[in-house]
Amino acid sequence: MKADVLLGLQWGDEGKGKIVDVLTSKYDIIARFQGGPNAGHTLEFDGIKHVLHTIPSGIFHPGVINLIGNGVVIDPVIFEREIQEIKALGIPMSELLISKKAHLILPTHKLLDAASEKAKGKEKIGSTLKGIGPTYMDKTGRNGLRVGDIADPNFKKKYEKLKRKHIQILNFYDFKYELEELETAWFASLAILKSFDHIESEHYIHKALKENKKILAEGAQGTLLDIDFGSYPFVTSSNTITAGACTGLGIAPNKIGEVFGIFKAYCTRVGSGPFPSELFNEVGAHLGKVGNEFGATTGRPRRCGWIDIPALKYAININGVTQLMMMKTDVLSGIDTVKACTHYELDGKQIDYLPFEDNEGLTPVCKELKGWKMDLMQLESLADAPKEVHDYIAWLEDVLETPIAIVSVGPDRKQTLFR
Ligand code: GDP
Ligand code: IMO
Ligand code: MG
Repeated sequence: MKADVLLGLQWGDEGKGKIVDVLTSKYDIIARFQGGPNAGHTLEFDGIKHVLHTIPSGIFHPGVINLIGNGVVIDPVIFEREIQEIKALGIPMSELLISKKAHLILPTHKLLDAASEKAKGKEKIGSTLKGIGPTYMDKTGRNGLRVGDIADPNFKKKYEKLKRKHIQILNFYDFKYELEELETAWFASLAILKSFDHIESEHYIHKALKENKKILAEGAQGTLLDIDFGSYPFVTSSNTITAGACTGLGIAPNKIGEVFGIFKAYCTRVGSGPFPSELFNEVGAHLGKVGNEFGATTGRPRRCGWIDIPALKYAININGVTQLMMMKTDVLSGIDTVKACTHYELDGKQIDYLPFEDNEGLTPVCKELKGWKMDLMQLESLADAPKEVHDYIAWLEDVLETPIAIVSVGPDRKQTLFR
């Protein structure tokens, strides 16, 4: 058996949470492989809207195992809040397992994130300020604390040692902070984290694959936020791509099956950094309003623009996408002419790739497609969609050379059309 991967092809918030929830009934295990509470994955069903940050999006399906893999970074305080919010819904939570190798976000990691952003001034990344960058820095710097360390009698000592290092770095910045309250809450929240099974999750995954269990690896963020291949330095600090599922769960590359690539029928970005097809006009504002484009984690307005074909092709190649899923198709309803960026112009020349040098200086070259009026949110079958929707899908499949398996027409589980 091979594990399937589902991930975002743009700058995050493509609708990963919704589709993982929709697909969960076909799987035995849903596993997060990277990122942390910078993610906000929204699920809607039975009139309930729920946002998950650290917990995999299969949590509302009894009988399914949800696993937080070694590549994830966990803030115990946010984790505790997530667990309490799920419990408050009164819906039975499916089983949740946590890798002993997942790294812990300390209160001082969050302070370091804030201090670093403040020092950057206008050049700030637009981080979610959840401590993601500093935690991954300690991981690669071989200083981090992991979930498995909590059981170590020397845990407090290890914590104090890392904290001391962080305080020295904080002294380097012009940054005021209060640590005591954050620390009290952090230590109190460890109790909930401890109440779940901490496992060697790579062994668990290997055994599950041998037993023909079906696994879906759930990505966070999106390919254009990848630490290696995204619009560096305006990226997150993990590998958000298919390869991240290998390192973040211990799945061998030849054990990867389908790769589901999710994208919006247009494009959004939250935080700083280049966005060649961004719209600064009323159409952009319209997409933001109709699409309710506000960050699920920070509430910040998302920047909106047309779909970006060169960026999507790049993401498809890097991830080995086998099936595409187009989200928020309903949001384009009522726009007379839908545009798609097919090339960029740089220094008077047309190019069809994201260059290393100057992602800020790119001018999008767009193709125009006829829009549609029909409200798609009520559709029960794609067969009833207007011709223009079919034309848009057919054109995208042609230029992206990859089939579109799902077309999403609303935030609810039920507003999902299979092809
Ligand atoms: P994720 O981070 O990729 O899981 O995506 P987010 O949850 O951050 O953002 C996606 C937003 O779009 C959420 O508010 C979803 O409820 C919503 N959404 C998902 N699919 C659709 C869709 O097809 N149409 C509309 N209108 N909203 C959708
Ligand atoms: P989901 O999983 C959209 C962005 C931040 C910032 C940059 C770095 O919901 O798609 P970080 O906190 O990681 O240091 O921030 O990455 N970012 C996201 N944007 N969706 C996300 O996750 C994101 N996670 C981080 O806005 O620009
Ligand atoms: Mg999100």
